[in-house]
Amino acid sequence: MTTATATATATAQPTASAASPKVATGRKVHRALDETKPLLRVSDLAVSFDNGGGSGPRIQAVDGVRMCVYPRQTLAVVGESGCGKSVTAMSLLHLIPRPPGRWDRGEAWFHTDDGPRDLLPFAESDIRRIRGNEIAMIFQEPMTSLNPVYTIGDQIIEAILLHQNVSPAEAAEIAVESMNSVRIPDPRPRLKAYPHQFSGGMRQRVMIAMALACQPKLLLADEPTTALDVTVQAQILELLRALQRERQMSIMLITHDLGVVAENADVVCVMYAGRVVEYANVFELFENPMHPYTRGLFASIPRVGEKRERLVTIADVIDNEKNFRTLPGAEKGVRPWWPWHEPPKDLKPKRGPAGDYYLQEVKPDHWVGVWRTEEVKDHESRPPDLSYRIADDPSRA
Ligand SMILES: Nc1ncnc2c1ncn2[C@@H]1O[C@H](COP(=O)(O)OP(=O)(O)O)[C@@H](O)[C@H]1O
Ligand SMILES: [Mg+2]
Repeated sequence: MTTATATATATAQPTASAASPKVATGRKVHRALDETKPLLRVSDLAVSFDNGGGSGPRIQAVDGVRMCVYPRQTLAVVGESGCGKSVTAMSLLHLIPRPPGRWDRGEAWFHTDDGPRDLLPFAESDIRRIRGNEIAMIFQEPMTSLNPVYTIGDQIIEAILLHQNVSPAEAAEIAVESMNSVRIPDPRPRLKAYPHQFSGGMRQRVMIAMALACQPKLLLADEPTTALDVTVQAQILELLRALQRERQMSIMLITHDLGVVAENADVVCVMYAGRVVEYANVFELFENPMHPYTRGLFASIPRVGEKRERLVTIADVIDNEKNFRTLPGAEKGVRPWWPWHEPPKDLKPKRGPAGDYYLQEVKPDHWVGVWRTEEVKDHESRPPDLSYRIADDPSRA
């Protein structure tokens, strides 16, 4: 506990200025965070897209998503392509184009420097003070996020000048420090390089340097290593872990790769078809997956030394009705939510959107998306909220 308190106080100190002897006055210093409270709490988020000029039904990209991210924590959001991971993250920073996108409902409370605020109703001018400053985002393909006609230095410096009250010369210093911190060798001359002169891994380092130059409290990392080859991927993830430790930063790590989850997550949020189907700490999730979709994800990973006729697919698991009757409470009618099944006969949907679904704490600190059947028709369990961090767990550290 004492170490946690000590490190929490260190949060107020930006790493860059701590490392440099001269502390520039205009540099941004975020307020220290209460480690016992979530930094971000998303409740009942729903976002839809217009499907062809307002004629057809809207595409409900996410529907009732809930999750929490605590200070210093890595929350992995995992699920197949199209399940709503990016839409969830991008909605927080108002990066969804509207139209065709539309924020339907929900809240996203974030501990801003001005105190806790729901980001979703923010005006563009207000979210701009959060975006890139208190919350930064990195994407899968750095080439699409870097502008090919400007130097690396110009782009990092611009990001710094946008949020910190410093001179261009000071911003250049911060840019060098930031490139140093992401282990880009010999950064000063590299400020003058163009994105195409960097390898994929180096470009991703530049993106991270840019994202972290303003010491964000939360980094949204959307498949940050998917476009990179395996060794570079491992280096970038190692770098993110090191930066997280140095800066006491929170990370929402979006991935479809369970290997990445295993090595990096404290807590895991499994999504399917725009909803959360499972939520638990990483050890609980790997040791005791409960939703058939999560089990399918695990079953589909080939294991060294295991001979199989063919790989088990997710379909093999979810097509087997038996797998839907193994949840705690199954004998009383608790059934995992799954959009491609006939809903259970005793479905008792609540009025309103996503009323057929409910994220139930099936055992302490472990949630599964279930149908709102007779058994749970009036339940309101604790929303998913886990402060778990491996770094603080004496049994795992
Ligand atoms: N700009 C858009 N226009 C229409 N539909 C979109 C748009 N962006 C995302 N969607 C839809 O939202 C759903 C979730 O997408 P996304 O969050 O990008 O998935 P992923 O989990 O792969 O990141 C998908 O079904 C996709 O078709
Ligand atoms: Mg995505």
